[in-house]
Formats: sequence, structure tokens, C-alpha cells
Amino acid sequence: MSGPGPLRVGVVGVGWQGSGHLQNVVAEPRCRLTAICDLNRELLAERASTFGVAHTFTSYRDLVACDEVDAVVIVLPDHLHREPATTALEAGKHVLLEKPMALSVDDAEAIAAAAERAPGRFMLNLSNRWMPAFAAGKAALERGDLGAVRYLYARMANRLEVPTKRLPWLQRSHLAHWIGIHRLDIACWYLGSEVSRVRAVERRGVLASQGFDTADLFQATIEFACGAVMTLEGNWILPAGYPSLVDSRFYCLCEKGVVDIDRSRSELAVAGPESFDLNTPGAGNILGRQSGFTVEAWRHFVDCCLEGGEPLVSAADGLRLTRVLTAIVDSCRRDGELIEL
Ligand SMILES: NC(=O)c1ccc[n+]([C@@H]2O[C@H](COP(=O)([O-])OP(=O)(O)OC[C@H]3O[C@@H](n4cnc5c(N)ncnc54)[C@H](O)[C@@H]3O)[C@@H](O)[C@H]2O)c1
Repeated sequence: MSGPGPLRVGVVGVGWQGSGHLQNVVAEPRCRLTAICDLNRELLAERASTFGVAHTFTSYRDLVACDEVDAVVIVLPDHLHREPATTALEAGKHVLLEKPMALSVDDAEAIAAAAERAPGRFMLNLSNRWMPAFAAGKAALERGDLGAVRYLYARMANRLEVPTKRLPWLQRSHLAHWIGIHRLDIACWYLGSEVSRVRAVERRGVLASQGFDTADLFQATIEFACGAVMTLEGNWILPAGYPSLVDSRFYCLCEKGVVDIDRSRSELAVAGPESFDLNTPGAGNILGRQSGFTVEAWRHFVDCCLEGGEPLVSAADGLRLTRVLTAIVDSCRRDGELIEL
């Protein structure tokens, strides 16, 4: 366990999102990247060489047992979060777990119970809270002059290459867990109110016709105990010609005002011989320095591990979100049946 630092960090899963975590860990002077784990031996060797990592493992159990690891970052496919998270927590390590917490309430309860008993810190990596626009939206609502939130509309979408080429394991997850969670989390954070009931539908077609056993899109109506109502929708069939990998809109109508966050409006457009990309980077390497919202989320977690604060995104938040998201998936499977929470 950690004292005054450095925080010795092990990363489990060094794929697409895992590589961003590796960059954030090595960019933070209070951390030392001591171990990585992945089933893909070629990728493991490549990342170990790029990031200068001493210990490499193909089993997360071996990484968790490593004496030179104080904090474990879990960046595995959505359906594989429970065992590594509970094992690391039970071993007394701090845990940063990638979203979604889990795909079932049973798994999320097991992780939340382990986090409750554990001496280490636990945070679910809902890093979008650290995007300046979402953090500023929260501050604007907290000023009080906009009045109560009445209605929210949120959409998140991906280009088709995400579920087909980049992450074929996404068939085992669901759009709601994969990207719906980001905007549902912002809504719950803004409102501070429980979800009371949901109703949702999904549609299959484009992906099924290409052999992927998953829906193209979902649309949910979410009612909160405070009376606010939310439309949450998502899809992952945007065409290759869509000018960014991610499309996102968040609109929040209050009694006396509006908070409107349109991340598809970009300051940067890059036109190439065969592509047009509209994407202002929110995180990454800017002029040689790792910057942006994912770094800020990581720094917050490191602060909590080294100084003892409570992470902004708790295990209880993760469990609450899992309850709502699994209800959305259940309602989709039952063709829009109303589900009370
Ligand atoms: N916070 C965000 O904005 C954000 C963005 C993207 C992905 N994610 C989340 O991060 C997680 C990983 O997504 P990704 O895009 O990096 O996926 P990925 O497929 O690119 O990477 C997963 C890695 O885990 C490895 N792996 C699989 N099973 C393993 C096992 N049993 N033991 C060890 N290694 C194993 C794979 O070889 C792969 O390298 C998912 O839960 C995803 O939802 C979060």
C-alpha cells in the first residue's frame, strides 16, 4: 500500500484505452509504472519496451500479487471487470476501474461490496466529468439561478468501425453500457436524484447483416425521482465518412435556463486527400506534454490514493448506474416494457 509516494502502478489490459492509461501514468511524476498485464504477448512486449516496464504478466492474478504494485488500473473488455476488480481490492490495492463497472447488477454489487470492505481507494473511470464543459455545466447548475432541471436530452454515437473493426468483443456488451453510461453519469451527477423508472427500445439491422450479434441503436426514456425526465440515445453505425469517431450532444433544460453542450462543434477541422476530420482533441499529447480530461481524472485518483480523499466517482455511483443501464437493456429486450427501479 501507498505511503507518501511514489504510487507504484500496474495496468491490466494494455489495448486501445489501456495505452492512454499508460501514457497518463508515466506522465505523472508521483507515479511509477511497475507492471503491466495482457493476454496478447506481442502487445505486452511492445508496450513494455515503449514504456520501460520491469514486470510483465499474462495473468491479472500475478500482477495483483506483485509486491511492487500499490494501485491497479483495470482496462479489460466490459464483460471481464468483476474478478480482477474484486481480486485487486481484496489484496489491498487501490483500484481504478474502467467504465462500465459491470454488465450485471450481481457483478456490480460484488465489486461495490469489495470496495466497501477494502482498505484501498476505488474509482470508476468516468473521466468525462473532468471535461471542462461538463464540469462548468455542473458549476452553472450549482449557482442556483437556472432553477431545477426539468428535461435532459443526451446522445452519444460511434462510427461503425468501433464495434466491427476496433473492438469486436463489444457484441458481448451493449451500447447503453458502452457509451450511454457517459451521459447517464453526467445526468445523475447534475441531478443528484435517483432514477425511478425507465423504458427503452433498440433496433437491429446494419450490424446484424454483417454478422455482429448486437443492436444498431437504442433510445431510452428515464424518469428521475425529482421529476426530471431524460431522453438518452446512442448508436454505433455512423458511416466511415462521418467526420469524427464520436458524436455527442447533451442538452439540459431548467426552469429558468439551459445548459447545452455540443461536442460535435469543433474548433479544428483537418481535410486530407481522402478524409475529413472534425475533432478538437480533449486529451492527449499537446506540445510534448500529456494533457486534458483523462489526465485530470488520473491525477484526482492519484491524489486520493496518496492523500486519502474520497474519489469523485464512487463504487456506489457505479452500482447505481449499473442498475439503471441493466434496466435499459432489459426494457430493450422486452420491447419497451416500463421498468420500475
Ligand atoms: N473511459 C472511456 O472513455 C473509455 C474509452 C474506451 C474504452 N473504455 C473501456 O476500457 C475497457 C477496455 O477497452 P479497450 O478499448 O481498451 O479494449 P481493447 O480490446 O483495445 O483492450 C483490451 C485488452 O485486454 C486484453 N485482455 C482481454 N482479456 C484479458 C484477460 N483475461 N487478461 C489480460 N488481458 C486481457 C486484450 O488482449 C486487449 O489488449 C472497456 O471496459 C471499455 O469500455 C473506456
